[in-house]
Amino acid sequence: MNFNGEGSLVSAEQDNVFIRNFAMVIGALLGVTVFLILIANVFFGTDNPERAALAQERAQQNMNPLYSVRLTGDPAPVMAGADSAAEDDGVMEVRSGEQVVQAVCIACHQGNFMNAPGVGDAEGWSARIGQGWATLIEHTAQGYGNMPAQGASATEEEIRAAIEWMVVTETGLEIPES
Ligand code: HEC
Repeated sequence: MNFNGEGSLVSAEQDNVFIRNFAMVIGALLGVTVFLILIANVFFGTDNPERAALAQERAQQNMNPLYSVRLTGDPAPVMAGADSAAEDDGVMEVRSGEQVVQAVCIACHQGNFMNAPGVGDAEGWSARIGQGWATLIEHTAQGYGNMPAQGASATEEEIRAAIEWMVVTETGLEIPES
């Protein structure tokens, strides 16, 4: 072992420089971290009760099931029909096209069940829409081929809205008036 005095002095000095720089870098990083935490707190802090309630509500919404299965014995979903019309003194609540599709038509018009064109299936629908609105509504209300009559589950107005949503809105195709 042969240590050269000058050499070890230089290396001790280098070590000091390194330690100083290293400490400065660590200190700077710590500073940046604290700064970012402060910024994050300003923008996303949950000490604001309104914001906290909103976050809670969104989390709850995200956890809600998209669909639910109705078990035998559970009451059926309310449909606009003769019964509810009588209950509401003749005022019927008309469901939107999307609501009708989700409640009634989706059972078959999702995928390709028994050759039913699916929601938004441009190819499947383009072969059928040439018949025009009147025929499509009539076929839906009274039944057609593999589709049983839907007139008991939806009014004509609702059927039209449902077809409009399932075909026009979701595929962009136009249905001729007649
Ligand atoms: C029980 C299953 C089922 C339900 C529920 C159902 N459909 Fe269908 N639908 C079919 C099938 C199957 C076809 C294809 C019939 C065929 O060509 O044999 C069809 C065809 C159609 C057609 C094309 C008819 C034609 O002339 O080519 C329209 C429009 C339609 N359905 C609308 C609806 C609407 C709107 C609803 C909801 C109110 C609905 N369907 C509910 C099974 C169903």
